[in-house]
Amino acid sequence: MSDRYIDFANSSLGHRLVAAIGLPSPVRLERWQAGRLRPVEGALLLSGGALADKVQAFAHKFTDATYRYGTEASTWIPGHGPTLKAVVFDASGLQHTDQLKQLREFFQPLLKNLDYSAHLVILGRAPECLGDPFAASAQRALEGFSRSLAKELRSGGVLQLLYVGEGAEDQLEGALRFFLSPKSAYISGQVLRLQACATPVEDWTRPLAGRKALVTGAARGIGASIAETLARDGAEVILLDVPQAKADLDALAARLSARTITLDICAEDAAAQLIEHLPDGLDILLHNAGITRDKTLANMTPEYWDAVLAVNLNAPQVLTKALLDSGTLHDNARVVLLASISGIAGNRGQTNYAASKAGLIGLAQAWAPLLQQRGISINAVAPGFIETQMTAHIPFGLREAGRRMSSLGQGGLPQDVAEAVAWLGQPGSGAVTGQALRVCGQSLLGA
Ligand SMILES: NC(=O)c1ccc[n+]([C@@H]2O[C@H](COP(=O)([O-])OP(=O)(O)OC[C@H]3O[C@@H](n4cnc5c(N)ncnc54)[C@H](O)[C@@H]3O)[C@@H](O)[C@H]2O)c1
Repeated sequence: MSDRYIDFANSSLGHRLVAAIGLPSPVRLERWQAGRLRPVEGALLLSGGALADKVQAFAHKFTDATYRYGTEASTWIPGHGPTLKAVVFDASGLQHTDQLKQLREFFQPLLKNLDYSAHLVILGRAPECLGDPFAASAQRALEGFSRSLAKELRSGGVLQLLYVGEGAEDQLEGALRFFLSPKSAYISGQVLRLQACATPVEDWTRPLAGRKALVTGAARGIGASIAETLARDGAEVILLDVPQAKADLDALAARLSARTITLDICAEDAAAQLIEHLPDGLDILLHNAGITRDKTLANMTPEYWDAVLAVNLNAPQVLTKALLDSGTLHDNARVVLLASISGIAGNRGQTNYAASKAGLIGLAQAWAPLLQQRGISINAVAPGFIETQMTAHIPFGLREAGRRMSSLGQGGLPQDVAEAVAWLGQPGSGAVTGQALRVCGQSLLGA
């Protein structure tokens, strides 16, 4: 479903009118286009610091225009250098309160020199891993700073904080290929932790080459977009949906040269059927199928409650366990669960849905350490308001609120969720596990 307000706000008359009466003016976000090769098309500014040195070593693969700041070889001067498409600030060395002013000193001059849809990343060390309470406090301060600055960015700018664990420095390239590129256009104000990971990406143009991926609920909406994105990145995709969606599933499968499985994931023999359909095993498991049956709790029927919990939470639990126990899910597999910001913030009329989605986040957190030995990662992706058939059915007022109540002032596209899922599906993304990544334009809900 299209967002007519964005079209209006970006027309010449609309732009002037929106500015004159102080309405939100969301910009059209820059997204990844087919055929593009480099993550950053424009200037990339790096700060000083040991982690920034690591980034410098591969930055030439991102763009031809890399600049350093705050070092003797500083080549970017505010007001004189080019506008910046991407910025990486290494804050890992900040250990006490006085040093935090470096954040203001670095970011303030460049805020007026950012290109449209700029991507900013702050690198730090996870506070819980630091012995010195003052250093831990300084690193935790980065979180408040990042989330606030993300809310102040204009023209589609986004900002994330990555806490880089000991030994995880080699995972920076994969993470920054995602967070500095338009693939993460609708993600902002997020905090993620990277850990060491032994499985590298071999070919950045096809990071999922040789990987078998199952996508549930693949016939339409976000699931279809995930399937297309995984196929683009080189995965062999298997599409699953209910028998009623067979026509759509077959059409997509023909486009992607993919296999299909028509199956209700809640069927009693669903696990057995899946295992039978996957004799060669699986490297990426994407639990995307989901339903809503909204009612306030006072009016919630047992049928509505049971259906949502069965599809959204019980089926991913039962099927993942069966695929693990049978050895169908390979070592170093990647599991991604489609949660929702409703599962983080709660939402009126969605006690059943929010419970199911919060349960998925809990599942990822609890399972991650247990699967670590086999190199398997499990994460939740929590979309905010995404333009699909599911959200097209929301009443007009609520739909508009869902779109505008975020730092980017608009809904996301299925592609935005798909890009995040595809990144978490990469071999190198074992660096991230047990976490929930919000794809919500920094929605105010639950922030
Ligand atoms: N659209 C959003 O704004 C949004 C926001 C947050 C989270 N999500 C989540 O993202 C996922 C995809 O959402 P969407 O908007 O594309 O939904 P959608 O309704 O457009 O598509 C869901 C797909 O899942 C399939 N499905 C449902 N029950 C199934 C079952 N029992 N067995 C097999 N397949 C089944 C449906 O047939 C459909 O093809 C869902 O888990 C949803 O909860 C969506």
